[in-house]
Amino acid sequence: MTEQKRIGILTSGGDCPGLNAVIHAVLKYSSDRGWNVYGIPNGTDGFIDIANGICLPEDFEIGEHTFDLPGQKGMNVLLFLSGSVVGCRGKKKERLGEREKILEGYQQLNLDALIVVGGDGSLEIINDLAEQGNWKLIAIPKTIDKDVPLTERVVGFDTAVDIVTNALYNLTFTAASHDRVMIVQVMGRDAGHLALHAGIAGGADVILIPELTPQVNEELLNRICHKIAQIRSQKRKFVLVVVAEGVKNAAGEKEENIGNYIQEKISEYRSHHSDCHQPSFCGLTEEDEIEMRVTVLGHLPRSSPPSSLDRLLAVQFGVKAMDLIAEEQFNQIVVWENGNVSSKPLSEVMEKMQQEKQRREAAGEAPCASPVDPDGFLVHTARALGLCLGDPAKGCIS
Ligand code: F6P
Repeated sequence: MTEQKRIGILTSGGDCPGLNAVIHAVLKYSSDRGWNVYGIPNGTDGFIDIANGICLPEDFEIGEHTFDLPGQKGMNVLLFLSGSVVGCRGKKKERLGEREKILEGYQQLNLDALIVVGGDGSLEIINDLAEQGNWKLIAIPKTIDKDVPLTERVVGFDTAVDIVTNALYNLTFTAASHDRVMIVQVMGRDAGHLALHAGIAGGADVILIPELTPQVNEELLNRICHKIAQIRSQKRKFVLVVVAEGVKNAAGEKEENIGNYIQEKISEYRSHHSDCHQPSFCGLTEEDEIEMRVTVLGHLPRSSPPSSLDRLLAVQFGVKAMDLIAEEQFNQIVVWENGNVSSKPLSEVMEKMQQEKQRREAAGEAPCASPVDPDGFLVHTARALGLCLGDPAKGCIS
């Protein structure tokens, strides 16, 4: 019989598919050993509630079958439910001043270890608290943005890619039926991983990501128009354009809806060049009717049952986190490295995040901790397939 332990689990930042599968693995591992698991509600807010006496530690205790559905007892719903049964985001901004309360609540729970499933922003905040409060922390990376460095995979990304890929597939038929240019805006914060992966898998013609086209300028519009003209002259009339939300407007500012902005700018750009009697400048003549429509996928990629790959990743990450706790190896982050589950000191990843953000900020770029590698094989693949990435390279006429 192993020593009794009290394990806390907290999901923080934006939700993504696979969070509950991590919780499932943690619960299963614990129940087999007789350990207790405490699901901290709504990120660090749960600690504040404990400190304020609103909740008792035992209120947070969760077991393997806590989430039975009415009439369907014993179902392992956690493995395939999206979202997070413990909630993700507390009122972080307003409550940042309540740092002492968070530390106090943690103490009151008297945990042997805390597992935090988070993305780059939330891991930074929690790591800071953990250092101050001497927490025994294990981090598990999750995010649809894939912007956590030093891990090849993160929970949630595979499902998000599937959702966007399927959306592109579904949009292809309405685009084809109406000969339209479909502009599809996808999340990803300041990284273009989701747009790039799904754009390639979903058969996009143009993929715009902040790492290659940080802002929409005239050259970019010119290249997009040329690509549209090239496709329309050769084989088909419909065109799929994917744009990552991190791409900025001409002034280098974030747009509420960058897809709509691009649509407007393409229209303006075309009519301007037609008015100037330079109809072929952008590759499209005045007679070329282009009808455009914009779809913003928004939060959809975050909220669907996890793919089998994400479930497998989530349960392996959960088990690895528990193994680390059993071995009393703390302040580690579980990672995927060289095709396998592994771990490394959380401080290494934190350092890498800060370095990369500082490097990018100094270069006037968006502060992304793990951007798409412009020289990576995926970018090379996109170019080799003739996709337009908006920059002056193969696939675009510059
Ligand atoms: O970090 C995940 C993410 O979905 C980003 O892709 C997106 O920019 C952001 O969160 C949206 O946040 P919120 O759910 O607060 O609107």
